[in-house]
Formats: sequence, C-alpha cells, structure tokens
Amino acid sequence: MRVLVTGGAGFIGSNFVHLTREQRPDAQITVLDKLTYAGTTRSLDGVADDITFVEGDVADRELVDRLVADSDVVVHFAAESHNDNSLADPWPFVDTNVLGTVSLLEAVRKHDVRYHHISTDEVYGDLELDDPARFTEATPYNPSSPYSSTKGASDLLVRAWVRSFGVKATISNCSNNYGPRQHVEKFIPRQITNVIDDVRPKLYGDGLNVRDWIHVDDHNSAVWAIIERGRIGETYLIGADGEEDNKTVVEAILTTMGKDAGDYDHVTDRPGHDRRYAIDPTKLREELGWEPKYTTFSDGLAATINWYRANESWWRPMKDETEAKYAKMQKVEK
Ligand code: NAD
Ligand code: DAU
Repeated sequence: MRVLVTGGAGFIGSNFVHLTREQRPDAQITVLDKLTYAGTTRSLDGVADDITFVEGDVADRELVDRLVADSDVVVHFAAESHNDNSLADPWPFVDTNVLGTVSLLEAVRKHDVRYHHISTDEVYGDLELDDPARFTEATPYNPSSPYSSTKGASDLLVRAWVRSFGVKATISNCSNNYGPRQHVEKFIPRQITNVIDDVRPKLYGDGLNVRDWIHVDDHNSAVWAIIERGRIGETYLIGADGEEDNKTVVEAILTTMGKDAGDYDHVTDRPGHDRRYAIDPTKLREELGWEPKYTTFSDGLAATINWYRANESWWRPMKDETEAKYAKMQKVEK
C-alpha cells in the first residue's frame, strides 16, 4: 500500500510514520511536510532511509495532485495545531487547515484515492466541569478558537466532498495527545522541559480545566483501525478515558521528576479557554474493536518524561524561542 502522510514531520504524524514502519513494513510511505516551526526531519530519524520525504505545502495544488496520483491512501495530519498561536495570528490556520484540506480533497476526488482526515475533539466546543456528558459523533459543532474553528471547517469540507462527489473519506476527532516528539509549546512537554531547566511550570488560570489525555500511539493505532475497517463517510471519535485537570497533571510531572508538587506558577489565562473536553469512544471500540494500550496515564507520563530527559538534543533548539514567545503573552499571577 502506498501511503501519503501529510504533516509527517510533526508530533502525531511522525509517530504515525514510526508506528507504521514497525507494524506494516510493506507500506510505502511518502511524507509531505512544509517544515514549519512545528516540523523537523529529526522526528523521522531512524526511518528516513525507508521513506520518501517531500518538503512542500498541502495548499500547493500542483504538488498535491502529483503526490496523490501516486498514492493508495492519504492520511492528512498537516495543520497549524496550537490554540495560543491561532489567537496571535489566525491567517496560517486558515491557509493550511482550510485551503490545504480543499487542495487534498480535490486531488483525492480526481484520482479516486482513499482519504483519512485527522481532526480534533475541540470542534465540539467545551463541557462544564460538573456535566456528566461526553462528546459523541452526534454532538453539534461549536468551536471556540480560530484553531478549532478552522479544524471544524475542514471537517465540514470533507463531509461535503463525501456527499457531493462520493469521495472515499473517513474523519477522526481525537482528544489531547501526549508522548515523544511533541513540540515544547504544548502543555506537557513545556512543563517537563521547564522542570529539566529548573524553571517553574506555568499553569493557565485556575488550572482546573480538564483535558482527556491519550497516548499518541493509541491515537495512531485507532487511525489504522479506521483506515482498514472504518465505514466510508463516517466519523469516529478517538479517546482513551483519560480525563485529568491541568493542576493534577502539573503536580504529577513535578513529583515524578523529584520536585515539590506545589512548585509551579499560575500565569495569565488563555482568552476563551475551553473548560473541559471528554470523549465517548464507544463507536470506535464497539464497531472496530479498537482498544488503547496505554490505560494508566501515570505510566505513559513517566515514559514521556524519560523520553524528554534522554532526547534533549531534539527539543533544545526550539525551547528558547518558544519561551520568548510565551513571555510576551503571559505574566505570572501567583
Ligand atoms: P504539529 O504542529 O506537531 O505538526 C504539524 C505538522 O504539519 C508539522 O510537521 C508542520 O511542519 C506541518 N505543516 C504545517 N502546515 C503545513 C502545510 N501548509 N503543508 C504541509 N505541512 C504543514 O501537530 P500535531 O499535534 O502533530 O497535530 C497533527 C494533527 O492532529 C492536526 O491536524 C491536529 O489538528 C490533529 N490533532 C492533534 C491533537 C493533539 O493533541 N496534538 C489532538 C487531536 C487532533
Ligand atoms: O483536544 C485536542 C487538542 O489538544 C488538539 O486539537 C490541539 O492541536 C492540541 O494542541 C491540544 O489543544 P489544547 O489547547 O488542549 O493543548 P495545550 O497543550 O495547548 O494545552 C492543554 C491545556 O493546558 C489547556 O487547558 C491549556 C493548558 N496550558 C497550556 C500550556 C501550553 C497551561 O496551563 N499551561 C501551558 O503552559
């Protein structure tokens, strides 16, 4: 099978490439990635000789058309992915997340190629902390940020191309991923690398916001289940029952790394900060028989901490620039 992976030099896409090399060695993988600030070919160390890497933009229609013509399946991870950046400058989010998706949809339509669209639970907006509900495939779209609204727009485009043109597409909406090779702008790697640098972790607002954590390998095993067994035109929610509030996660990072649990700062809250995400993965589990491997968050977190400790050369080049950007947006409040 010839697999075109967009965004394969980013966090989830690179882990998808590593997992696919391990579990499906016959797959011929081509990565298309623009190598923005969030992508690095160092994330493909160890597999680079076994894949084809193309540096380019998913919004480049001619390039995309050529690559899709030579593929059996397209897995579209490429995106501008960080909420805080979308608040500072929404334009790259519109260009990549919306226009880039149309470019891929037009190419898979023309060449009749199977397409899997990677999306996020953030398209559903947020839940109250005391609401027992979780998101399902039937939850109405209600995105809050420029990032999540461009992802919602891209999902709707996929649905329209399925209905109007019969494109062979599936969509997955996953909760918050953690694991190796995640950019240090994101919550968990930012705090782990802060602790390594003897800097106090930074918690937005009251720290009670809840995210539903899933290990990146579990996300990617679900993506393969959907590619292989999912029904065309369907959406599948991916989650692993991993709800934790941010304060608990910061305290767990600190204590696992040998520090005092209270050794962190509260900083300026994110504008429009979603309160809680929670996924009901019943459809994925019952229809496709998918099960996560990482069922204990503390074990997955400890393994992730060890990865950042052992791979400082991977994250060090991005750390100072990231913290300088945050320093302009956030002040320590207590
Ligand atoms: P990331 O920011 O780590 O990686 C994105 C990759 O896309 C980078 O390698 C970047 O260079 C590339 N890219 C950006 N713009 C591009 C363009 N125009 N053309 C080609 N390549 C481009 O993101 P991630 O966290 O790995 O997220 C991957 C996908 O998964 C995104 O679609 C995101 O919305 C979705 N998602 C992420 C999470 C999460 O917790 N991180 C959860 C659910 C869904
Ligand atoms: O839910 C899936 C989404 O998860 C994906 O679609 C996004 O691509 C991904 O970035 C992630 O979005 P979040 O905004 O939830 O992730 P982030 O890592 O930015 O923040 C997680 C939580 O931690 C959130 O409540 C904000 C908070 N936070 C974040 C940072 C960077 C802090 O308290 N301190 C921080 O320094």
